[in-house]
Amino acid sequence: MKYALLNTPSASKTTDCLVIGVWTKGKLSAQASALDETLGGDIARIVNTGDVSGKVGDTLFVHPQGSAAKRVLLVGCGDEGALDARNYRKLVNAAVKALLKSNARDAVFTLAELPLKDRDLSWATTQLVQECDNCAYQYDQTKSKKKPALSLKSVAVTMAANANRKLLSEALKLGAAVGKGMSTARDLGNLPGNVCTPSYLASTATDLASQYKSLHTKVLNEKQMEKLGMGSLLSVSAGSKEEAKLIVIEYKGSSKVSSKPYVLVGKGITFDTGGISLKPGAGMDEMKFDMCGAASVVGTMKAVAELGLKINVIGVIASAENMPSGKATKPGDIVTSMSGQTIEVLNTDAEGRLVLCDALTYVERFKPKSVIDIATLTGAAVATFGDQTSALLSPDQALADELLGISQDTLDFVWQLPLWEEYQSLLDSNFADIANIGGPRAGTITAACFLSRFTKKYSWAHLDIAGTAWLSGAAKGATGRPVPLLVEYLRRQKA
Ligand code: BES
Ligand code: MN
Ligand code: ZN
Repeated sequence: MKYALLNTPSASKTTDCLVIGVWTKGKLSAQASALDETLGGDIARIVNTGDVSGKVGDTLFVHPQGSAAKRVLLVGCGDEGALDARNYRKLVNAAVKALLKSNARDAVFTLAELPLKDRDLSWATTQLVQECDNCAYQYDQTKSKKKPALSLKSVAVTMAANANRKLLSEALKLGAAVGKGMSTARDLGNLPGNVCTPSYLASTATDLASQYKSLHTKVLNEKQMEKLGMGSLLSVSAGSKEEAKLIVIEYKGSSKVSSKPYVLVGKGITFDTGGISLKPGAGMDEMKFDMCGAASVVGTMKAVAELGLKINVIGVIASAENMPSGKATKPGDIVTSMSGQTIEVLNTDAEGRLVLCDALTYVERFKPKSVIDIATLTGAAVATFGDQTSALLSPDQALADELLGISQDTLDFVWQLPLWEEYQSLLDSNFADIANIGGPRAGTITAACFLSRFTKKYSWAHLDIAGTAWLSGAAKGATGRPVPLLVEYLRRQKA
């Protein structure tokens, strides 16, 4: 999709579709009413028929007399003066979905100019573009019949004559970059496990680096990981024919050579059968999404490169396939992690933490400013938060607060769970330094407790995205979360 800024149009602007907001009680938004003056009140007449409720997200195509636009899409915006960020997102989503069902090839959106109670014009512009990209996303890579290309090719976002064009054009660029990052993450997530293997993730990351000068990718194979002592990570791929990979994507944006990087670590289990602690069959196909943390790292690195942020960022992906076989790790096996800590693998289905812990030790070498890991780690996070909210756990309250704030700003929600000392003893083992499970209760917390044993040397936060990374049911598919949160976090950092 192509995006551009446009000065608020008059009715003389020719477009396939003009998108305008309508408040409840038949009141036109400022942009709609200015437009309607040039149309001799035709839109007001239509609204007065009572067919337009003005309810948030209600849409109606109309064809006013004398308009240079082929069609006008009226979008309900709720009570005037009461529109907030959440409802804005909802109405933009509804508008784009309606528009995509039409035949329009281009559209002019006046919605970013709607007054929001809790956000500015830049935010509204970014969100509009991001939402457009997300609604326009289609997956057909593994269908023999490709979906027809969308007719909508370009979207213009209007701004008032006195608006700061430079600021808004940056906002537009941000929305497009986040949109691209999310699409990349969704594509990787949606690909089946027999296509998206650890090697596939590695070559995707390598390809990405060939597209952007600022990105460099390095891939470690099993032999190299063995040399580093990554016995925990390798214990997960032991039962699989697919070779595990540790993928390192470096972004250099800071002009200061020695500027320490911000590090993202993604869980990249390309299929999680549970291993010898085999999962039940129902819904197991969804374990192809167990690499969505990794996908969000790839998507975020792409967005960062698109934006040309002036910081250094390193994305690390710990990728393996978790399979049962004669060579697979068994419950009770004890492995030695790169940190030197020994781990009793009481459940081979708690494999995410086993690959992450070695990646988290590996990144110590970068002396990172912060490390955020992103993982579809526990079913308990799904039980707690459903598909709306990712779990956040961190011993660094300043970092946690920053992420909580950004999540509210971006509407890419996270909520914090405690990572208190009192939970640590649940991981006690009679035979090793630590067990890889903490029993049936507080699963999200004990998983984070496990990781915390490997993250003492830097500021760290953990995001459990098991509930938010993909949707089940009819809308089954990857969501591209938490790319918006991660991009915004990085955008706010300094070199
Ligand atoms: N990938 C799963 C977590 C998961 C389960 C995500 C369901 C989304 C939906 C993870 O590897 C796992 O199996 N976790 C176990 C841990 C348990 C054995 C301690 C879980 O949550 O059941
Ligand atoms: Mn598992
Ligand atoms: Zn898993």
